[in-house]
Order: sequence, then structure tokens, then C-alpha cells
Amino acid sequence: MKDALQGKVVVVTGAAGRLGQVFCEAVVAEGGRVVAADLPAAQERPMALRDRLGIDRVLPVAIDITDPGSIDGCVDAAVKAFGRVDALVNNAYPRNARWGRRFEEVTYADFVENVGMHAGGYFLASQRFLELFKRQGHGNIVNMSSIYGVVAPRFGIYEGTAMSMPVEYAVIKSGIVQLTRYIASYHRGIGIRCNSISPGGILAGQPADFLARYKAHGTNKGMLDPQDVSGALVFLLSDASAYVNGQNLVVDDGWTL
Ligand SMILES: NC(=O)c1ccc[n+]([C@@H]2O[C@H](COP(=O)([O-])OP(=O)(O)OC[C@H]3O[C@@H](n4cnc5c(N)ncnc54)[C@H](O)[C@@H]3O)[C@@H](O)[C@H]2O)c1
Repeated sequence: MKDALQGKVVVVTGAAGRLGQVFCEAVVAEGGRVVAADLPAAQERPMALRDRLGIDRVLPVAIDITDPGSIDGCVDAAVKAFGRVDALVNNAYPRNARWGRRFEEVTYADFVENVGMHAGGYFLASQRFLELFKRQGHGNIVNMSSIYGVVAPRFGIYEGTAMSMPVEYAVIKSGIVQLTRYIASYHRGIGIRCNSISPGGILAGQPADFLARYKAHGTNKGMLDPQDVSGALVFLLSDASAYVNGQNLVVDDGWTL
């Protein structure tokens, strides 16, 4: 696609992260302007992106998606800088210090906290941005889910590694797929749409034996690079998908087949 997002203003949360950085670059590469939003302590990469791509194309903003006042501050900053917001990409990945424990070791408090921060944060950011979208008469939300929002974990691929698939993640990501449908259906008739993306695993220096076990379930590549997911994001942010609503787009090299 070329200039698929010409003139569009897109807010990406988790902009300093593995996928977030690439998503911000993809928005600008397609002619859009991006609000690169992440925690106050994670502003270095969004600011470097602004320095590289230009102040008229990238606005770094501090946001905590679990704090309504902070989200409203991001809405205000985006509108002040760019005049409106066309889309929100819920891409942050909040987790507490005890994230990643085995099923038997997850406490009720950890479960509730992690589901609350992540699924709750996606709900809250959507709710606050939807107030602007309703005033504008248009808006678009893309929520990041995962293959583990769609299928049960394949625990065998993690054997012998320090990696795990936390129970909270399955609850969060399947919940986000349904949150997406809820938002799309609830806002019918007012120019607002909402879809989700379920990526497969993203390459990040994982152990070779894990990568081989993972790849055995894929069709060609196995684990993906962030750029392999950004095409799906650009499509869902663009007018080419104007009447795609409430859908979950799985981008996983056929891993869930
Ligand atoms: N990496 C993968 O293999 C993979 C696969 C499928 C889906 N996903 C999903 O894609 C999204 C991005 O994943 P990633 O791997 O790039 O994550 P990441 O950990 O690299 O980056 C996440 C970013 O979110 C930010 N963040 C954390 N808590 C926040 C909060 N309360 N408010 C605002 N920002 C906050 C962090 O500072 C960080 O920059 C997540 O929803 C994740 O579940 C990732």
C-alpha cells in the first residue's frame, strides 16, 4: 500500500515497545501522523522517533492506560497538536512484577491485577477516546489480541525453557476479541468501528529449540518480525477496510490452523 493513511491521525499506545515502534513508523510511512504514547518512564524511543521522522509527523505523549486522567490528557494533547484523532491502536502491554508464573503459583491478587491493567486498560482507553470519536462523528479502534486469544496454549513448545504462557494472557486476549465485538456493535450507526489483530509470536532472541518447536506449527516462517504484522494494522487503519467492523484478523503464518 502507498499513502494508505494519508493525513490520518493515529494514537498508538505502547509506542516504545517491540511492535509499537514499528507500528508508529508504518503510520508515518503511509502518510499519517502518529501520537506515540507510552508510560512516562518510556519516552526515550518515542522522542527519538520524533527527532528522526519530524515534529509534524510524530508527537510523543506520556500515557498510563490504567489512569483515566492520563488518557484524557493524551486525547487533549493529540487534538491540540493535530486537530483530531482518526484512530486509536490499543497496543500497550501492562503486567505486574510477578507476571509469567506457572498456573499453580498465580495468586488471585496477581490474576486480578494483570487482567485489570491490560484488559481493563484497553477498555478504559477505548472508553475515553470514544467520547472524542462520538463528538467528531468518526473514529476507529484497533485492539491488539494474540493467537492465544483464539486457541488454547501449546504448552509443549515451552518445555525446557524459562518461557511460559500465563493464564491471565489467555483471559485478557480472548476478552479483548470480545471487547472488540462489543464496541463495534454498541456504536452502530455513528461512524465508529473497532477491530482486533491476533499476531503469532514475535521474534526476540528466543532459544533455538523453542523456535524450531514453534515453527513446526506454522506454514512458512514460524515466529514473525514486527513488520509482518504492520501491514494488517495499516489495512485496518485505512479506508480500504471502511466496512470491516468487529472482526479479529489473525496474522500468524497459519500457526492456528
Ligand atoms: N510480542 C509478541 O510476541 C506478541 C504476540 C502477540 C500479541 N502481542 C501483543 O502486542 C502488543 C504489544 O506487544 P509488544 O511485544 O510490543 O510489547 P512490549 O512489552 O515490547 O511493549 C509494550 C509497551 O507497553 C508499555 N506499557 C506498559 N504498561 C503500560 C501502561 N499502563 N500504559 C501505557 N503503556 C504501557 C510499555 O512501556 C512498553 O513500551 C501487546 O498487546 C501484546 O500482547 C505481542
